[in-house]
Amino acid sequence: MPSVTITDPDGVSQVFTAEDGEAVMQVAVRNKVEGLYAECGGSQTCGTCKVTVDPDWFDRLPPPGENEVSLIDGCPPNTRLSCQIRMSAATDGIVVRVADSQY
Ligand code: FES
Repeated sequence: MPSVTITDPDGVSQVFTAEDGEAVMQVAVRNKVEGLYAECGGSQTCGTCKVTVDPDWFDRLPPPGENEVSLIDGCPPNTRLSCQIRMSAATDGIVVRVADSQY
């Protein structure tokens, strides 16, 4: 099973195991990671699941779609919606940090 390292806004890093196909957002919510609200449940309307992706991983992700681009516009570099990052062998070991501000 793939794993993801998630750092919360207080700087606490934890490694979580994920199901294949599960979104990083789902992993964070399931494990009650602080600071990630995911109010829309992954339908790309809330923008409250933002993470910054470690530079070593950012370019390995598929590019964001139109909805995601509109929600991360103006955010710090390497920001993505965690509901749009799917866990798989390709993302096994990915490292993300919950955004300091979700709004
Ligand atoms: Fe709402 Fe990701 S959970 S945009």
